[in-house]
Amino acid sequence: MKKLFLFIFLFSAIFAYPQKFQGLALTPPMGWNSWNKFGCDVSEKLIKEIADAMVESGMKDAGYQYVIIDDCWQIGRDDQGNIIPDPVRFPSGMKALADYVHSKGLKFGIYSDAGSKTCQRRPGSRGYEFQDARTYASWGVDYVKFDWCYTSTQDAKASYTTMRDAIYAAGRPMVFSLCDWGLSKPWLWAKDVGHLWRATDDIMDCWDCQDNRNNAGFTILLDRVADLYSYSGPDHWNDPDMLEVGNKGLNNTESRAHFSLWCILAAPLIAGNDLRSMSDETKNILTNKEAIAVDQDPLGKQGVKVRDDGDYEVWVKQLADGSRAVVLFNRSLKEKTMKVKWEEMGYPSYIQANVRDLWQHKDMGKFTGKYSDIVPAHGAIMIKVVPEK
Ligand code: GLA
Repeated sequence: MKKLFLFIFLFSAIFAYPQKFQGLALTPPMGWNSWNKFGCDVSEKLIKEIADAMVESGMKDAGYQYVIIDDCWQIGRDDQGNIIPDPVRFPSGMKALADYVHSKGLKFGIYSDAGSKTCQRRPGSRGYEFQDARTYASWGVDYVKFDWCYTSTQDAKASYTTMRDAIYAAGRPMVFSLCDWGLSKPWLWAKDVGHLWRATDDIMDCWDCQDNRNNAGFTILLDRVADLYSYSGPDHWNDPDMLEVGNKGLNNTESRAHFSLWCILAAPLIAGNDLRSMSDETKNILTNKEAIAVDQDPLGKQGVKVRDDGDYEVWVKQLADGSRAVVLFNRSLKEKTMKVKWEEMGYPSYIQANVRDLWQHKDMGKFTGKYSDIVPAHGAIMIKVVPEK
């Protein structure tokens, strides 16, 4: 009897204690989000077609799961304070849309904001956190991205913790994606609050452009997360923002580099292009299972830049089976022969290892001490190095 009481006590103590839903993102979340390509032009028609395309294109088979509507789906609150989706753009309502996404074997994500308004001035969740979380749960939402516009003097940790508790109280497991652009250094405090946190401002569809609000191309965002590797891991990921692969600002070589680096970073892989009209090359990049396996490796290590010779960088990610993934990254406008040395991966120089090229899908042979190859201009080579037993 005593044991039973102890069990009930411990059980309720654990589950009554507000927390994030554990274990929802043991590997970096994969999916699609409307913002990069469609901005405010979201509708249930678009979301359904994207869900269809995610299945038909092979993206679902490659591991993409979440279909996430970003800003602009909401238009107001009713007199009870309930959030109202745009009835013109989402005439069937969010529950029906979530049901459709679920019927495809996918998961459904939504966006709100910790402040009084979203970044596009739609109603934010401030003061409505518990009500909104209950509403999302009743619709069948699986993923919540929570932005940081119109937050005035709010404290980030307190605000995001309130929404975490609201989601937990609503009782439906939802991935919680924090988006304060790294302002409060969420990597220092958010491990028990969310499953991923934006560590940067917004990605722009270019190689290295920048605007006056710190939004920037992927190479610049890469630099901003490079030193944060010790903070990322299973169920708590650094998020350098969504992918621009398949949008018009990067050529195919640059897109491969972008994807390779996001995989070596163990970044969330959230596509941001139009999945309904992808070129074959875009599809090949986004569904490269060997690159995705590096991103999704269960050890959950963010890769580390082990060498930086100006335009030429070597990135290494330790994998669960003891092998290493390596990206040779050439930022210059000329092709370059680049190498990785075994010591840079934490291996003795005398061991023999098998090298596999993860873009050519080809075994390159056995090597000792180092591997070198020609890396295209603005390009990357991604390999897996497996020591001989
Ligand atoms: C912010 C976020 C973006 C996007 C927009 C929507 O800029 O960082 O990812 O959600 O808001 O308004």
